[in-house]
Amino acid sequence: MNTEHLKKIAAEKATEEIQEDMVVGLGTGSTVYFALLKIGSMVRDGLNIIGIPTSSGTEKIAKEQDIPLSTLATHPTIELTIDGADEVDEHLNLIKGGGAALVREKIIANASKRIVIVVDESKVSRVLGTSFALPVEIVKFGWEATKRVVDKICGQSELRGGIHNPLMTDNGNYILDCHFDGITDPEKIELQLNNIPGVVENGIFVNRADRVIIGTMNGIEYME
Ligand code: 5RP
Repeated sequence: MNTEHLKKIAAEKATEEIQEDMVVGLGTGSTVYFALLKIGSMVRDGLNIIGIPTSSGTEKIAKEQDIPLSTLATHPTIELTIDGADEVDEHLNLIKGGGAALVREKIIANASKRIVIVVDESKVSRVLGTSFALPVEIVKFGWEATKRVVDKICGQSELRGGIHNPLMTDNGNYILDCHFDGITDPEKIELQLNNIPGVVENGIFVNRADRVIIGTMNGIEYME
């Protein structure tokens, strides 16, 4: 079984939680992609749901899959969100933002009654920040100054895409990927980073996931 298969079984398992007439938050990434394909086939088979996408990329795929879409303005409460993650610890804390969608993902998470995270087994980690650099979205203006302050917290960060071709998020901002030696107090680091002028949001998600579905070589595993 390759990683793509592990992503697929986790993502498809999560779609079993979707019920008729639900408002569903649609996450971003290569794992959620398999959930979008499955939801698309469920919709074509007659399921009635409304999706709220977390990125322009997901919006495009959802449209291709005939999934009806709306916005938080019209549907402020989301019953279920299915999203991916870059790192997950045993307390269900997450690092997200590998796909640069962390701001919209956190807004959607905040509006969601239930959040199910889908990952393959490589994403499970004892301590966050040991296998994935933490994405931090920052505004373009004065980004070098913002980076200097961010680096005081994480030690070292990199502008995603590099200075000659920086990646631009859906919100028109930059991403710093911050290398930690492990994040032992994610709640504190999340708040510290968000307190820096110029930081829009960071990819630490504490106490937000209700369930993590893990695709493993031995089948599906759960963290609740
Ligand atoms: C996007 C995210 C993704 O959910 C995360 O990067 C996981 O992506 P993938 O399933 O492709 O590994 O947070 O901002």
